[in-house]
Amino acid sequence: MTRSPDTTRATKAGRSPAPDGVRTPTTNVWHGADLLGTRGVPAERLRELLTLARARRESPAKSLAGRTVATVFFEDSTRTRSSFTIAAQRCGADVVDLSSKASSANKGESLADTARVIEAMGVAAIVVRTSRAGGAKMAADAVACPVINAGDGAHEHPTQALADALALDDAWNLAGSFDFGGKRIVIVGDLSHSRVARSNAASLTTLGAEVVFVGPPAMAPRSLGGALGVRVSHDLDAELAEADAVMALRIQLERGAGAMLASSRDYRSAYGVTQARADAMKPGALVMHPGPMNRGVEMDPAVADGPRSIVIRQVAAGVAVRVAALEAVIGSTAGNA
Ligand code: CP
Repeated sequence: MTRSPDTTRATKAGRSPAPDGVRTPTTNVWHGADLLGTRGVPAERLRELLTLARARRESPAKSLAGRTVATVFFEDSTRTRSSFTIAAQRCGADVVDLSSKASSANKGESLADTARVIEAMGVAAIVVRTSRAGGAKMAADAVACPVINAGDGAHEHPTQALADALALDDAWNLAGSFDFGGKRIVIVGDLSHSRVARSNAASLTTLGAEVVFVGPPAMAPRSLGGALGVRVSHDLDAELAEADAVMALRIQLERGAGAMLASSRDYRSAYGVTQARADAMKPGALVMHPGPMNRGVEMDPAVADGPRSIVIRQVAAGVAVRVAALEAVIGSTAGNA
């Protein structure tokens, strides 16, 4: 397959051949590949994963029976960690779960060494979350088995972006076309620290949408938009009327975003998805948030729980895309994959 240097890779050099009885999946362009990001991944590759996610959501398969998936989470997570576990179990795989607090990372072992150790135990794939941008690639470079990036610092979070794409396709009744041509998606908030924004900017534009980054200048610098090929605005109210979806992002206090804010009240006033702003959006336009959400700051509770919101659909879609991601990179052990 065609591979971007920092996103997915074809079968790794030195990778062990598949064990006897393991069938080649129909999605074999992903087989043996890492999923490290969405940037540079062609539309057909994104659609292939998303189509598999829809298919498995309708017809689950024990496609990874007999395989083991390791989830290595060196940063806190609710959605991604639990949905990878649920996805792996849904496919019939065993799961080994490792966190920094309960692993030898706490004694100074590097992520690369951790990945090598886990791989030596015979896992089929490693799912990595780390606060270090580029950390997932470091792990991937250390091992022969596929690595999936579950969020690395402010770099990429590809399976969140894929979940968002699946939720949008569902909400817009696109029936699995994943063709977002003519759609405009505003992503508002702390863009500078957001791996979700980076992965979504890549995947949504590849699937045909126009993406606009909106936030205060410190959080939405024009240089970031230039680097990612998206327009930047500092005026949310000016963008609402033409938006087909507004995705609010979390203010990442753990990455220093607090220093960029005068106050939460000022932030909400200028950039919060308030009820008044939701009312200013066009009929049928959606609101989204990848979570976790600071309710009442990034989005009003009534909006988050209101008719425009697909926040919970994003979470549900996360399981489906992680089923597809695991099956695609590992390769199915089922005969009908
Ligand atoms: N969206 C997301 O990555 O959430 P978690 O940190 O809970 O996994």
